[in-house]
Amino acid sequence: MKGNIQCRSQLYKKMTQSLLCFVVLLVTAHLALSYFPEEWVENCKKENGYAGDIGDLNYTDPSSVPRPAKCYMACFMGKQQVMKPDGSIDFKYARGLYAKVYKDDEKKIQMFHRIVDECAKEYKEYPDKCETAFHYVKCKRLKYAAYKQ
Ligand SMILES: *[C@@H]1O[C@H](CO)[C@@H](O)[C@H](O)[C@H]1NC(C)=O
Repeated sequence: MKGNIQCRSQLYKKMTQSLLCFVVLLVTAHLALSYFPEEWVENCKKENGYAGDIGDLNYTDPSSVPRPAKCYMACFMGKQQVMKPDGSIDFKYARGLYAKVYKDDEKKIQMFHRIVDECAKEYKEYPDKCETAFHYVKCKRLKYAAYKQ
């Protein structure tokens, strides 16, 4: 009987922990997202005729990514000032943004700084802003996915 109660209390503890973990995750995701005005997302989607979610794209298959999604990225990065008006990427500015967005999470900042630095090394400028933006986002997403494993 005692064992049963102990077991249930352990299970309860586990469930609470999972729930807490989930809530923290949600809040963190929301924080990163809400750091930038929602209008930027809406306007860039409207401007480029893109209605999807760039989180759902398959970054290991670039040919599957529609052009409006790539141009949406260029538009959003332009608003963030990560993409300069000439279509090149400002990596120093991108680093600074990560430090601001995740200001209470030193580990995340370090991880993102490493990702930005690695993507800066692999960076190639394309004659087209949408392609430049997409290749940078693709680089970041693939590295992020690899780090999380
Ligand atoms: C993404 O694309 C790759 C390469 O074509 C493919 O192997 C993989 O199955 C795709 N993933 C999803 C989730 O569709």
